[in-house]
Amino acid sequence: MANVWSGLIEEYRNRLPLEPGDPVVTLFEGNTPLVRASRLEERVALASEAVGVDASGTRIYVKFEGANPTGSFKDRGMTMAMTKVKAAGTQMVACASTGNTSASAAAYAVAAGVECAVVLPAGKIALGKLAQAVMHGARLVAVDGNFDDCLRITRELTEKYPVALVNSINPYRLQGQKTAAFEICDALGDAPDIHVLPVGNAGNISAYWMGYNEYFGHKVASSIEDSAMRLKPQSTKVPRMWGIQAEGAAPFVAGKPVENPETVATAIRIGNPASWDYAVAARDDSQGLITAVSDAAIMEAQAILAAEVGVFCEPASAASVAGLLALAAEGKVPAGAKIVCTLTGNGLKDTATAMENRGNIAPQVIAPELSAAVTALGL
Ligand code: F0G
Repeated sequence: MANVWSGLIEEYRNRLPLEPGDPVVTLFEGNTPLVRASRLEERVALASEAVGVDASGTRIYVKFEGANPTGSFKDRGMTMAMTKVKAAGTQMVACASTGNTSASAAAYAVAAGVECAVVLPAGKIALGKLAQAVMHGARLVAVDGNFDDCLRITRELTEKYPVALVNSINPYRLQGQKTAAFEICDALGDAPDIHVLPVGNAGNISAYWMGYNEYFGHKVASSIEDSAMRLKPQSTKVPRMWGIQAEGAAPFVAGKPVENPETVATAIRIGNPASWDYAVAARDDSQGLITAVSDAAIMEAQAILAAEVGVFCEPASAASVAGLLALAAEGKVPAGAKIVCTLTGNGLKDTATAMENRGNIAPQVIAPELSAAVTALGL
């Protein structure tokens, strides 16, 4: 068979910190769809025009990370982290999570043949994500607190017990996640002008920035090895990084941690991001920005993506598009820009929130006859 995707470690091995004997743990993550979103281009042009700005000729793409094996971008980091855990011979991993990291860690722990403990904020995890951790056999602990409390406990736990931490403060996580930037450059033939993505614990914005810089031939602080720097540059520029937070959980906008973060986008309900300095560097060195959007704007963007692009992502993911539309309405989108929005996770993980937003519309029940179906469909 020709051209079969072999997982991101094999595909980008020369740009990843691997030792020859490392046992690759993979579920064949990566190679996710990069979808042109022409209806979003129209919306951005209209919103810009309304404030007297010309944003014609933009090309907007969504990178659908919900197409990864466990339905989120976390799988990119987990293949690297779990490969290194297996190489070290550690028997157990642990993570704090708002749901996606735990789903991914649990699945990759199965693939690696190790135990997995997950520490979650009680009552704040979408049911689909919880089901994933349960089905993959993880040991679950629910904490009466938020994600930041969970991460503090998990850090202490992994310092005191022979358990490997697989949150994104594990540097191998960002190494794996940076490959999404490579895929985008490979698909577009160069880096985009602007990259928009949601920001929670701030690992992903840091990872993308590292990836874009490595393809451009630059090293950033979060890079952990030099070998990739000796390779030929693959892009002629780096994008501006536009990070989007939820208004109720926007520590980068506040300039300090938020004590009681709250948002419908539970995946990014985080007040004290671990990768603070890397994210600030990504924002500033790229001449980018980090801004916040309301929960209502997030839910509207999720609906637009589903109904006008054909991609069903989770609320946190839609924050990127909500942010892009808001920034267009502020006249910030330049004409002719090539823009990529990361959609970090799959909408199927949290159908309850999506349906609530649509007023829990239930289909009309009809008699089992064609005529009844025709009438109900208004044909
Ligand atoms: N989008 C989704 C769907 C996420 O699950 C997360 C983070 C983010 C965006 C933000 O990415 O943390 O790298 O800035 N989820 C983590 C988790 C916290 O536990 O699953 P980040």
